[in-house]
Amino acid sequence: MPPAAALLPWRRLVVPLLAVVSVPFVLPLALPFLLRSSSSRQPLSVHRLDWLPPLSPLPRTPDPSTPPPPPLTLPLAPPTTPPPPPSTLPMAPPTRSSPAASPPPPEKDEGGGTTCDLYDGEWARDEAARPLYAPGTCPYVDEAYACASNGRPDAAYTRWRWAPRRCRLPRFNATDFLATLRGKRLMLVGDSMNRNQFESLLCILREAIPDKTRMFETHGYRISKGRGYFVFKFVDYDCTVEFVRSHFLVREGVRYNRQKNSNPILQIDRIDKSASRWRKVDVLVFNTGHWWTHGKTARGINYYKEGDMLYPQFDSTEAYRRALKTWARWIDKNMDPAKSVVFYRGYSTAHFRGGEWDSGGSCSGETEPTLRGAVIGSYPRKMRVVEEVIGRMRFPVRLLNVTKLTNFRKDGHPSVYGKAAAGKKVSRRKQDCSHWCLPGVPDAWNELIYASLVLEPKPRSWKHH
Ligand SMILES: *[C@@H]1O[C@H](CO)[C@@H](O)[C@H](O)[C@H]1NC(C)=O
Ligand SMILES: *[C@@H]1O[C@H](CO)[C@@H](O)[C@H](O)[C@H]1NC(C)=O
Repeated sequence: MPPAAALLPWRRLVVPLLAVVSVPFVLPLALPFLLRSSSSRQPLSVHRLDWLPPLSPLPRTPDPSTPPPPPLTLPLAPPTTPPPPPSTLPMAPPTRSSPAASPPPPEKDEGGGTTCDLYDGEWARDEAARPLYAPGTCPYVDEAYACASNGRPDAAYTRWRWAPRRCRLPRFNATDFLATLRGKRLMLVGDSMNRNQFESLLCILREAIPDKTRMFETHGYRISKGRGYFVFKFVDYDCTVEFVRSHFLVREGVRYNRQKNSNPILQIDRIDKSASRWRKVDVLVFNTGHWWTHGKTARGINYYKEGDMLYPQFDSTEAYRRALKTWARWIDKNMDPAKSVVFYRGYSTAHFRGGEWDSGGSCSGETEPTLRGAVIGSYPRKMRVVEEVIGRMRFPVRLLNVTKLTNFRKDGHPSVYGKAAAGKKVSRRKQDCSHWCLPGVPDAWNELIYASLVLEPKPRSWKHH
């Protein structure tokens, strides 16, 4: 495992490219802010390299008080010429105004409930019903995400609810979620971002059991990043919630060169070894993404292997596509839609200013979501790959399309509160602007899983329970 913050950025080309392209649009918007704020802030960047501008203008509710986002009419092909030197132009004007205290309630669902886009919407302030568990009370949040316990002073970031624009989410009910899972297994498979979501799920379900000793890790393990498999049992519902670590979903390996030095490789045409654990699970939630964006994965030199061929150099987006296809083939062959539900959780956005995860990038001091700007419409190219691969599968995989809803949440990351502050001083060396504080943003992803289980038709074999 790399350090906690080591999991992001898709960005090197993007920031300069975007900065240049957006000059005529953003500058007029940004100028008043730049002139007004005494301390000019660093640009907020979210993805590296694979960022694509929105394909069409984003639909939005008419709101005369907010100016429309700058239109982006960039050609869609990635640049082939070297990027211009980085510019320090802000991508989005920093938002100073408080978000609307209570946005209008989402419209009534007019269709069958499943036709509207659950992922098109906004964050609504909900002081009454959020967070779903009090900060600092859930024993399953590991230190890296326990921001309140680590000294984060503000709490507004815990009080937002995701509100789709054109439909209503079913009212979240953890008891009903557990009842739906009765007699079943739910498993999250992926990287530390999925462990973040796993811990969130344990915490929100824990709220529904009066006797907290009626849930436990079956091996007695405490959650830590050093271990790759956890199984939590909810005794009264005879169900388990599990996590399996798999950074790439395909198989990691090593090769030895003539000097007998070992080097990591990735076999993009072979499914990960942990796949034997995925079989027969009733609800699967996959993700992979952040490990494809940096270091050896991004460089792709003597790293990707297919069959007996170790590619001297290979493009990481194409490798990602082939790895996902390997995963898709495995799902199609081994999983039965009459018995199981499979989710793929989309890319979760990181927000670094003034650098990368490993070069002094920061997100500290952010206490409110971003409400507008180019960041909101950003969608990484690897997500288009995900959509394309899922679209060709036999198994109807459900895409938890959370990228956009995470775009807003620059306030939700641990930043300097990923570790308990020793004494009063907080480490400012490396900030975590990739993962999420808990309670926080991943709670909303789990609410969306619940919504999907409620709204979509259930697998045939579930109905006999
Ligand atoms: C939550 O779900 C349970 C089980 O389905 C049900 O008995 C309860 O009434 C629900 N609570 C609310 C507030 O809807
Ligand atoms: C996912 O959301 C993005 C906007 O963030 C949208 O462009 C895309 O079409 C959505 N994908 C699907 C499959 O709905």
